[in-house]
Amino acid sequence: MAYETVLVDIEEAVAVVTINRPKQLNALNSQTLTELNEAMTELGANSEVRAIILTGAGERAFIAGADIKEMAGKSPREGRRFAELGLALLERIESLDQPVLAAINGFALGGGTEVALACDLVYASNRARFGQPEVNLGIIPGFGGTQRLPRLVGRNIGKEVIFTGEMLSAERAREIGLVNGVFAPEELMEQVRKVAAVIASKGPLAISAAKHAINRGVDLPLASGLEIEKGMFAGLFGSRDQNEGMAAFVEKRKAEFTGE
Ligand code: HXC
Repeated sequence: MAYETVLVDIEEAVAVVTINRPKQLNALNSQTLTELNEAMTELGANSEVRAIILTGAGERAFIAGADIKEMAGKSPREGRRFAELGLALLERIESLDQPVLAAINGFALGGGTEVALACDLVYASNRARFGQPEVNLGIIPGFGGTQRLPRLVGRNIGKEVIFTGEMLSAERAREIGLVNGVFAPEELMEQVRKVAAVIASKGPLAISAAKHAINRGVDLPLASGLEIEKGMFAGLFGSRDQNEGMAAFVEKRKAEFTGE
């Protein structure tokens, strides 16, 4: 499907989704949130796609936040509706079978950091800047930042980021566990594509089971998380991919996974 504010490009089992409003530093308005959700849903249903890279158009921004010009005049009810559009997108990313890798090519502020928080892996250019500057606008994060950020980086670091509204360098974001790796800007996409290609070469059923086991279990007590893992582990046995993966090991050859 063609979108106005989002580009989708599929190459060898890896889809690249690019938020394409570079003049507005890829700020998320309602249309972009809706289109991103539709694009992710469509890719989620495409069994040939085994990993998705999310990035921003241009050299300056991944996402400079929710669109402040659109939000400015909203009533509480409209504000809630807008937050729900973003929350739905983040839940979609988390519920996809394929991993979503964020390639943070510049500013990832407010909703931009929140989108990164929903992605499975986050890689950044050394020019990237993260932050939750909502308090500068008289609001708080509304796409899950008050919940996902402290869960990922710890309560007090999360509070510092949200209370001060200050920007974090890519290196600082890596130190606190928000970012997996930092690269020179010109290397970012190539490096993220490499990770995506490694993931795409594995069994899709196993990757998806691992993603869901981690996402579902991470906020549960350990015993409940282990139950989830056990169910998912057992569920993979008897699949074609499990037979193929183990047969390939025994026969000393490379496994050819099909996702069945
Ligand atoms: C709408 C935005 C925008 C945004 C940038 N632009 N960020 N438009 N919403 N979030 C637009 C600017 O208005 C401008 O367009 C163009 O992009 C370039 O931005 P400049 O400000 O001129 O660039 P620069 O001086 O380099 O500053 C870059 C910046 C700054 C530091 C990233 O733009 C900035 O602070 N942006 C806002 C960041 C922010 O507060 N994000 C959180 C939003 S709240 P024009 O046409 O004017 O030239 C949020 C809440 C999520 O995300 C939850 C909601 C429920």
